[in-house]
Amino acid sequence: MLTDTLEALRTDLERAIGTVESLDALAEVETKFLGRKGELTNILRQLGELPVEERKAFGQRSNEIKVEAEAWIAAARERLERAVRSAIGETERVDVTEPGTHPTEGHLHIMTQTIREITQIFERIGFYRTRYPEIDWDWYAFESLNMPSDHPARDNWETFFMDAGESKLGKMVLTPHTSNAQGHELERKQFPIRMLNIAKCYRRQSDTTHAPMFHQFEGLYVDRDVNLTHLTGIVKYFVESFFGKTRTFRLRPHHFRFTEPSFEVDVSCGICNATGLTADGQKCRVCKRGWLEIGGCGMTHPNVLKSCNVDPDIYTGLAFGWGIERIAMMKDGINLADIRTLYENDLRFLKQF
Ligand code: PHE
Repeated sequence: MLTDTLEALRTDLERAIGTVESLDALAEVETKFLGRKGELTNILRQLGELPVEERKAFGQRSNEIKVEAEAWIAAARERLERAVRSAIGETERVDVTEPGTHPTEGHLHIMTQTIREITQIFERIGFYRTRYPEIDWDWYAFESLNMPSDHPARDNWETFFMDAGESKLGKMVLTPHTSNAQGHELERKQFPIRMLNIAKCYRRQSDTTHAPMFHQFEGLYVDRDVNLTHLTGIVKYFVESFFGKTRTFRLRPHHFRFTEPSFEVDVSCGICNATGLTADGQKCRVCKRGWLEIGGCGMTHPNVLKSCNVDPDIYTGLAFGWGIERIAMMKDGINLADIRTLYENDLRFLKQF
């Protein structure tokens, strides 16, 4: 009888383990049949009912069943664990070969790129970057630059004056050029001066070739014995570094109140090679006459030095002030239909540079 119960238990156990579908259920089966209060223990407890001679064989048989059951359980656990792992593999699979999604990446505005390049070029020859005010006193923008308040030369600059009262330095103006930096730097009296001032400028102008806000970079070199060969050397160095050795330049006599002599600098057009004509004999669409103007320069006027209490008998200087929008466009032979496009923030345009 008891032997039948034992064999029936074995059969039930094998079926239960064979059909179990989760690790939790397996643990339950294990406790139910083999646990301390499980069915096998129950049967063994009734051992005393058997005749003595049968007891040994019965004990052995139940041990065999127990060992067998442990092997089934281990196999079932192995099977269920593998199933769990492969389910995770399905739901959490990462395909490392799948192409990623690239976040949109910006880049520096063409003006920032150009400003950095100009700065690097001048730093190589000992210039240091300054940033003087873009809203400044009349005295720095005009008066100290040898332009008295009634001088007609001021008209060229079509200045925006501020509605902010006056001091002994005059009214406040949105600086129409970066030359206001000259007085500030001369006042520091740290010689030699090799200033590179890069800033925004403002003029009352707005058409396809003029924006009311634009950028200039202003150089001022003041020391003992600074002369015209330094000026031409610096212009040559800059033109070759920025535009490349295939481009040349020329200095055209001009007039500025704060330099004497004064010049305008022209750079040969990179598209037509200073001929003004394209290969098929057409007028060059970028320059029209072979040369492109980049801005003014000259030898510092003694009155500028004097107005900042620098002795012109000891110190001489040179200065230049050039447009950044202009040289950026000239570099690549870009003929912008409208210079104001630079500041419209249209990515379709800006992405090209
Ligand atoms: N400030 C002048 C301009 O804006 C350029 C210049 C700078 C000329 C320095 C001579 C010396 O046109």
